[in-house]
Amino acid sequence: MYFKKMIGNKCYLSPLDIGDAEKYVAWLNDREVTIHLTFYSRVISIANEKTFLENLSEDHHYAIIDKSTDESIGTCGFVKIDHLNQTADIGIVIGNKNYWNKGYGSEALTLLLDYGFKALNFHTIGLTVYEFNTRAMASYKKVGFKITGKRREALKRGNETYDILYMDILCNEFYEENNIIKELSFSW
Ligand SMILES: CC(C)(COP(=O)(O)OP(=O)(O)OC[C@H]1O[C@@H](n2cnc3c(N)ncnc32)[C@H](O)[C@@H]1OP(=O)(O)O)[C@@H](O)C(=O)NCCC(=O)NCCS
Repeated sequence: MYFKKMIGNKCYLSPLDIGDAEKYVAWLNDREVTIHLTFYSRVISIANEKTFLENLSEDHHYAIIDKSTDESIGTCGFVKIDHLNQTADIGIVIGNKNYWNKGYGSEALTLLLDYGFKALNFHTIGLTVYEFNTRAMASYKKVGFKITGKRREALKRGNETYDILYMDILCNEFYEENNIIKELSFSW
């Protein structure tokens, strides 16, 4: 069951439903999805996914729900939350590949960032992205993230090594530079 916590034009963010574990396991065993994630080399079974989801649902992790069908298409949330310094990192996966490149990721991130800056009082939000994940980077740039640095050759996929890029966004930049939020009727 889903609940409309952050509401956009295409999607809304809901607390996670543990009953979706099987769906998430299918996504997290799909190499086209996980090549971009740390899950790439992990064992993901229904049993361990249920435990993982139970822990995640206590934190600020949300299901991304297609507004027109009420179908769960992915998840997003905050990790490394540090309330003292008002910082956090963000993570996002749209596991249903039919929804890639249709603006759902950018809108879900916009909803999550707005919640992070206004409801959780973060000052800056960061993320890491692999150098070959150009779609994710395009989506992050659309919502206002900037590349701030990289760790060279820190990721191994097959026989190749790749850079891990750091991106971040400050609260004031988000409200000045994100055009998607200007089109939303709801904001925290
Ligand atoms: C990354 C992800 C969340 C982005 O969500 P999305 O809904 O697909 O992204 P959006 O449609 O909002 O934006 C994607 C943008 O990338 C562009 N794009 C697509 N493929 C691209 C490519 N190969 N190179 C550069 N840009 C690309 C799209 O044209 C679009 O930009 P536009 O709207 O200006 O045309 C989603 O694709 C996903 O979950 N991927 C798999 C897991 C993943 O990579 N997670 C992030 C780990 S850091």
